[in-house]
Amino acid sequence: MHHFTYKSGILHAENTPVPDIAAQVGTPFYCYSTATLERHFKVFDEAFGDIDHLTCYAMKANSNQAVIKTLGDIGAGMDIVSGGELKRALAAGIAAEKIIFSGVGKTEIEISDALEAGILCFNVESESELHLISLVATATRKTANISLRINPDVDAKTHAKIATGKAENKFGIPWTRAREVYALAASLPGIQVCGIDLHIGSQIVDLEPYQLAYERIGELVENLRSDGHDIQHVDLGGGLGIPYRQGDNEPPLPREYADVIKKAVGSLGCKIITEPGRLIAGNAGILVARVVHMKHGENKHFAVIDAAMNDLLRPTLYEAHHEVLSVVQPSVNGYTQIVDVVGPVCETGDYIATNRELPLLKQNDLVAIMTAGAYGAVQSGTYNTRALIPEVLVSGDQFAVVRRRMEVKDIIELDQTAPWQ
Ligand code: LLP
Repeated sequence: MHHFTYKSGILHAENTPVPDIAAQVGTPFYCYSTATLERHFKVFDEAFGDIDHLTCYAMKANSNQAVIKTLGDIGAGMDIVSGGELKRALAAGIAAEKIIFSGVGKTEIEISDALEAGILCFNVESESELHLISLVATATRKTANISLRINPDVDAKTHAKIATGKAENKFGIPWTRAREVYALAASLPGIQVCGIDLHIGSQIVDLEPYQLAYERIGELVENLRSDGHDIQHVDLGGGLGIPYRQGDNEPPLPREYADVIKKAVGSLGCKIITEPGRLIAGNAGILVARVVHMKHGENKHFAVIDAAMNDLLRPTLYEAHHEVLSVVQPSVNGYTQIVDVVGPVCETGDYIATNRELPLLKQNDLVAIMTAGAYGAVQSGTYNTRALIPEVLVSGDQFAVVRRRMEVKDIIELDQTAPWQ
């Protein structure tokens, strides 16, 4: 469900015509819908009913200040994975007591900044990290609340690059060693065990892996409690998938996902923490681009647009599918053509969509690349010296640029020549 629909034959973001934004902002640009962000957060959060819970939006999916403020204002906590995300969350007014710090490589300075801010919990991924947190906490006379991230060795049945819960993945502590590492945690100064954590992967469209992993965690909580640990919360990670392709089977509903959680860990009396990212932001954003050239190869047609793999890496990196729509609604019986939608970057891998049946496009037409709100702008770069593109937030019939277009001079200014040149 999202708020990008045709009205009077023109694609709108909520009540704002997309061509109006393009006329003011130029192309390409990312466009987010406030109503969609809010709706997704509420549907997910409300699925847990009156169970004690906290939904920590995984801000790596889309960390624009305007996006995280929109979510923070309706009660979201944040799941962060770097000192940079900590600063961005705090800058957007997110209370430190609602921030969870995940990730395998937290540095001394990141740990110290998070302790200083007073975050809710560190999700710890190794013994080495435990020792470092203990060291930093004791040096600064603070206590670090920690959970151990457990690797339950479960196959999330998703793309290999975004599966995280198998034994061979770099993430978490093997569940078979959990009790031993919790004992270490309890013995270290400056550390307070308060919960347990896992995250098995992303774009998961089958509830079974969740069920297996969460049951495993439920059992572990009982064992850990009998070992004397005070497990107050279970953090079950994120990863619930979303529909990318028209006609795809709908992924499980948040309500069904919440039911799996209630069944597996509901009787433990723990607070439930979750870390959804894609589910909140994915369908709340589109990438709008303009056709630069139509090019007709020997056996292919190409729509060369002004957005490229540096703006949206997902098709290139994960063979991800994003629907492409013409901003002008095609007529029902109009001509179509099978095209590859590609960018101007000098790589064959620079494509947004291949073999798509689209209405006949021509130079300067606008297209919308759908479901680009999560892992879109945040994964963009400046390859081929293409400046980062703007981000726009829509609410009803108003819109605001929430990240300005970078200029090439910004890129040049970050470089400098060596003193001998
Ligand atoms: N929690 C942790 C510890 C994570 O590592 C992630 C995502 C999430 C929560 C949120 O997962 P979500 O609900 O968004 O699936 N760039 C890839 C996705 C990478 C996901 C990384 N971790 C993509 O574009 O598909």
